[in-house]
Amino acid sequence: MGNETLLADKMNTLNRMTLLRIKELHKDMEYRYYIESFGCQMNSHDSERIAGMLEEAGYIKAAVKEEADIILFNTCCVREHAELRVFGNVGALRELKEKKPTLIIGVCGCMTQQEEVAKRLFKRFRFVDIVFGTHQLTQFPSMLESVLHGERVLNIDGAENVPEGIPIKRDGVFSTNVNIMFGCNNFCSYCIVPYVRGRERSRSHINIINEVEELANQGFIEITLLGQNVNSYRSPDSDVTFPQLLRMLNEINGIKRIRFMTSHPKDLSSELIDAMAECGKVCKHIHLPVQSGSNRILEKMNRRYTREKYLSLVEALRDRVKGVEISTDIIVGFPGETREDFEQTLSLVETVGFSTAYTFMYSPRKGTVAAKMDGMIDPSEKKRRLLELNELEAHILKKNNVKFIGSVGDVLVEGYDERDGDIWLRGKLSNFKAVYFKGSSDMVGRLIKVEIIDTTNNSLIGRVVQ
Ligand code: 5AD
Ligand code: SF4
Repeated sequence: MGNETLLADKMNTLNRMTLLRIKELHKDMEYRYYIESFGCQMNSHDSERIAGMLEEAGYIKAAVKEEADIILFNTCCVREHAELRVFGNVGALRELKEKKPTLIIGVCGCMTQQEEVAKRLFKRFRFVDIVFGTHQLTQFPSMLESVLHGERVLNIDGAENVPEGIPIKRDGVFSTNVNIMFGCNNFCSYCIVPYVRGRERSRSHINIINEVEELANQGFIEITLLGQNVNSYRSPDSDVTFPQLLRMLNEINGIKRIRFMTSHPKDLSSELIDAMAECGKVCKHIHLPVQSGSNRILEKMNRRYTREKYLSLVEALRDRVKGVEISTDIIVGFPGETREDFEQTLSLVETVGFSTAYTFMYSPRKGTVAAKMDGMIDPSEKKRRLLELNELEAHILKKNNVKFIGSVGDVLVEGYDERDGDIWLRGKLSNFKAVYFKGSSDMVGRLIKVEIIDTTNNSLIGRVVQ
């Protein structure tokens, strides 16, 4: 057993004892929790851990904030508007707290891992009881116990760890996330993540395999492996690499689909492309953020690849992984981005034909290298570029969707809506394209063979193949 695992075991025993004490304290009444997550899947998954701990302490999930005895905001700080939204939402809780003084209010996550922001929030909102960052998840039970005894807690200390063994209350029943690594070492010049999530730490492949086997036993059929840069995964026990991990997970009975995100182009190896091509359960989709099509800007972003390298990866992926779809993230208006640089991004988008592009206006993040660069772009110009890029992407998407008409594939059904007496199911193909088709509600959570018969602006319309 590695040191990490031993430490986690000890911590978990202590935490479980604390959670049981809280449960005992609450035994005469029902207590409810409400967690709102901002930002990425990593954050939502952390919220599932907090929910897991709260349920172990006897809390049950509240349908709405107004019913809750504890409200937690799990925050994001990757872009500016996320932060502003949190301050607004926290402020709006004042009234609830006035009506119910026993209500516990907490703010946690990436935004409050920044010392200055955490302190500012703690001081400004006196009705907030508990503020902590991303590295204190394992301390949550003792922080909650202190709050229940009347203290206010601000805690952003604590080593970057690999949180093993925390109970997880998963949102889904057939599809779920599994962390394989935490943190990031890349320091892209615009990005706050390495500062708030810490350095790269991979989980033991044995713990990951055990978790996925357990999920398969519980009936989950799709897992998404999460990490800021999954391609640099290395098991601390034995140097198992990400492509090797994929091959191991591909063997687990019951699991039908394996997804992963995010991949950094500089670390995308031919071994990974081979694993994607050869493992039947690994989905034919990769999220490969390009950020910009201009070499000059890519260098200023510290991305450590060129436009040409990115395009050659796309070619290799399409060559080896039949039917693969590629999605991406793009930032417009990075400091010093000229019209020519931006046009390079437009031309790359046109050349690649992404299945989805998540597009963002550059937003300076305090403490990052880019925030101090010259040549900040005017917000109205950033907006113009974003609109132009989105328009191009929408046009390409519409054109590309047509190529799927007549194809047949398995759709994992996620849910349904009733429209004009029909049940319209929605789900995803292996390549992550969204498909809508008519069927029955018992198809939710199953893989259904569907033929694509039509398209809308950004999704596909299908029909069940008997
Ligand atoms: N400004 C705008 N977009 C950003 N992203 C990360 N940091 C910033 C920033 N400062 C985007 C990147 C990343 C995605 C998760 O968020 O495109 O891939
Ligand atoms: Fe941020 Fe770059 Fe790390 Fe992604 S790879 S989390 S963009 S620093």
